[in-house]
This record gives sequence, structure tokens and C-alpha cells, in this order.
Amino acid sequence: MLLPLTLLFFSWGSSQVHAAQGNESCSTSTQRLQLGTYQFTSDCDTMWWCNSSNICDWKGCRRDEFPFGYWENATIPEGCPRGSFCPDEEDSCQPLLAVGSPCQLNRDDECEAPPDFQDLADNTGLGRNVNGSVCLNNVCMWANVTLGLPCAVENVPYTVYTQDTEFIDIVSRDNCRLGLYCDASQKVCMQMKELGESCQADKECQSFNCLATGVCGKPADTPSHVAFWVYIICGIAIFGGSA
Ligand SMILES: *[C@@H]1O[C@H](CO)[C@@H](O)[C@H](O)[C@H]1NC(C)=O
Ligand SMILES: *[C@@H]1O[C@H](CO)[C@@H](O)[C@H](O)[C@H]1NC(C)=O
Ligand SMILES: *[C@@H]1O[C@H](CO)[C@@H](O)[C@H](O)[C@H]1NC(C)=O
Ligand SMILES: *[C@@H]1O[C@H](CO)[C@@H](O)[C@H](O)[C@H]1NC(C)=O
Ligand SMILES: *[C@@H]1O[C@H](CO)[C@@H](O)[C@H](O)[C@H]1NC(C)=O
Repeated sequence: MLLPLTLLFFSWGSSQVHAAQGNESCSTSTQRLQLGTYQFTSDCDTMWWCNSSNICDWKGCRRDEFPFGYWENATIPEGCPRGSFCPDEEDSCQPLLAVGSPCQLNRDDECEAPPDFQDLADNTGLGRNVNGSVCLNNVCMWANVTLGLPCAVENVPYTVYTQDTEFIDIVSRDNCRLGLYCDASQKVCMQMKELGESCQADKECQSFNCLATGVCGKPADTPSHVAFWVYIICGIAIFGGSA
């Protein structure tokens, strides 16, 4: 299904109109991640979250460096200090969660770091883990599994919107150490492949680019497989996708 971009903008605008404002009622039961983009949504408009009294209350923390949709005269809440995180609801900063605790989709930053975080942390900017921790299938884990040992994997199908089309991009994440990936069928950590080696998915390649010809190619210019990039592009198109 292809929606023209104008329609996306239009439906996004209209969904904002219906969002509940501060002190208005909301339902915590309708809070969810939007299908396809996994962006958090609630009945409340940008500046509020739906509290346990089912009333839109001022947000107490922010996730984005540059939050969007706040009144000019509003005080934008702070981000959370080191050792804590701002949950998807953006109600208040919470202490980092111990390994094994429930966490929110793609929120590696909610999980406490392993003791050997310096060895495990992904500093490449590819987002394989945050300080050595990963949130997989809503559980905090450490990205510490070594070659040949059993690993956990989470495959999330994102809807990616480009100017004139949309497609599904499956982002596969796991708890293998850097340089390894979790093999889909055997569910053990395998060595990542060099340029020219045969592959079935991007995650198998050091370059994160498995070409249509079935071999690892040079890194792609468009990082369409990096989750954070998906967020940025879809910030605009999310609401349209659900219309
Ligand atoms: C609710 O209303 C009170 C009184 O008008 C106001 O001070 C407060 O900021 C409002 N709360 C929210 C969440 O908008
Ligand atoms: C929910 O938000 C409203 C509006 O700010 C506030 O009056 C109420 O006390 C809040 N409920 C809780 C449980 O904090
Ligand atoms: C802040 O701005 C909004 C809309 O721009 C307005 O509705 C609201 O009354 C203003 N609040 C204060 C405290 O000036
Ligand atoms: C990584 O975790 C360690 C240990 O908990 C902590 O001291 C350090 O500040 C963390 N680094 C970042 C960038 O969060
Ligand atoms: C690896 O991480 C898991 C949590 O995901 C932890 O229970 C386990 O003790 C860690 N193993 C090593 C060798 O650090």
C-alpha cells in the first residue's frame, strides 16, 4: 500500500488535533508502540503523558535532544543523568535496570552495563548495544555471548517510508559479542563475514551490507538498516501509516 506524502502529512495533522491536552482524560490502556515504526503513542499530546489517574500530566523527562511540539512558553523537561533513563512514556527518570529486568523495545540504554562494559560496548555508532547492554525481546541482557554459544535474537519488521514508497526492513538484533552475529537457524554466535564471502542477511557481514548477489559488499551509503535512522525519517510519517 502506497500513500502519497501529502496524505501522510494531512493525517498526521489531524491526529494531533484529537490528542488530549493537559488535565484532560486519557487511557493508559491505549498506550502502545505504533505498528511498523514502533514509535510510542498515547492519547495525550506531545507535552503530556497519561498518568495512573488516566489524566494527561506534564512530562517529567525527555528522550530527544530536540523535542518537537512543545509550546514556546513551555519548560522542556530535562534529559536523564547518567545512571538513569527516560522511559518511552517520558514521565520521570528511572534508575538503570538490572540484567534480566523487563525493558522497552530498542531501549538498550535502559539496562545496566556489564562489569566488562569496556570490552563489550559498541562504539561504532551502529547501535549494536549501549555500553555493552541490549534489550532483546523486552529483557535486559549483556552482549557477551562468544563464538559457537547459544544466543538470543530479536527480529523487528520496520516500515520504512521514503519519498515515494514504503518497504519493510527487518532489523535483527542479538546478544553476541562484537564481530559476531546470531545465526537465525542455529541460534548460536557466528563470525561476521568479510567482503566477498557469501551471506543471506546484512547482519552477517562486517560491512552490514549483504548484496542482492548473496555476497558481502562494501558498506552501503544509505544506512537503511540502522534503527535510529528509521526513527528520524519516520518521525514525520508515523501517524500517516496508521491512518
Ligand atoms: C492543570 O490545571 C492547573 C490549573 O489550571 C494547571 O496549573 C496545571 O498546569 C494543569 N496541568 C496540566 C498537566 O496541564
Ligand atoms: C495525574 O495528573 C493530574 C493532572 O496534572 C494530577 O492532578 C493528578 O494528581 C495526577 N495523578 C497522579 C496519580 O499523579
Ligand atoms: C502557552 O502557550 C499556549 C499556546 O501557545 C497557550 O495556550 C497557553 O495558555 C500559554 N501558557 C501560558 C502560561 O502562557
Ligand atoms: C558505562 O557503564 C559504566 C559502569 O556502569 C559507567 O561507569 C559508565 O558511565 C557507562 N558509560 C556510559 C557512556 O554510559
Ligand atoms: C553474560 O550475560 C548474561 C546476561 O545477559 C549474564 O547472566 C552472564 O553471567 C554473562 N556471562 C559472562 C561470562 O559474563
